[in-house]
Amino acid sequence: MGKLVLAVSMSLDGFIAGPNHSVENGMGEGGDRLHDWMFQSEGTALPNRSASEIDGRQSFKSDTINADVMQDYFDSTGAFLMGRRWFDHGEGPWGKNPPFNVPVFVVTHRKREKLVKGKTSFTFVTDGLQAAVREAKAAAGEKNITTGGSDIPRQLLQAGLLDEMLLSIVPVLLGRGIPLFDKAMRKHIELEKISVIDAPGVTHIRYKVLK
Ligand SMILES: NC(=O)c1ccc[n+]([C@@H]2O[C@H](COP(=O)([O-])OP(=O)(O)OC[C@H]3O[C@@H](n4cnc5c(N)ncnc54)[C@H](OP(=O)(O)O)[C@@H]3O)[C@@H](O)[C@H]2O)c1
Repeated sequence: MGKLVLAVSMSLDGFIAGPNHSVENGMGEGGDRLHDWMFQSEGTALPNRSASEIDGRQSFKSDTINADVMQDYFDSTGAFLMGRRWFDHGEGPWGKNPPFNVPVFVVTHRKREKLVKGKTSFTFVTDGLQAAVREAKAAAGEKNITTGGSDIPRQLLQAGLLDEMLLSIVPVLLGRGIPLFDKAMRKHIELEKISVIDAPGVTHIRYKVLK
């Protein structure tokens, strides 16, 4: 059985996107800085993926450590779980070939028909987070379910459903934006460090969530 893993890029002061995020500016003001370690403006380096498979504009960086982290992110994932805002902000930039290439389950209050783009399917789940997790588990099989953003991971943590967190910590203080954790999380949660990868421009720390 796979694990439910949060993988997210975060500023040192705890933000996963900048302020004033919108469909036009999905990562908010200054938020793209959090993905500098991942993207470059031209060329492609991630094995088995072309630039057009990412979003037609950007491709993965060629430094080996970060490329390996990204490769593992995709290889280990059998299904993605995302909130509606991540989807709404990503739909345009992802273009015709979103990078996921596995089933994606979007937790939302707003019904929408299943969408298939390239090798990625998006299923809009309107009967709650637990139902979305069940569907994602069935689709992922032995592989992991990977999630991102902040709203969904917080709910998963509160419900005791999150198994691991891969925090890619970027040495920048954004000052404002979408925090990964907020005051609404009134639960004491202990984590155990599994691994630390010191890579160019980012430190990847993997934690196990103790239950
Ligand atoms: N730094 C990174 O690595 C990273 C990674 C991914 C995304 N992001 C950024 O993170 C932001 C999105 O994350 P977010 O935490 O703000 O939002 P999110 O989790 O993507 O979406 C929140 C929305 O999902 C729906 N939702 C959440 N829980 C629900 C539930 N239990 N039942 C039904 N619907 C539910 C609601 O939308 P509706 O009511 O409208 O349906 C809610 O407003 C974007 O700016 C994205 O670009 C950053």
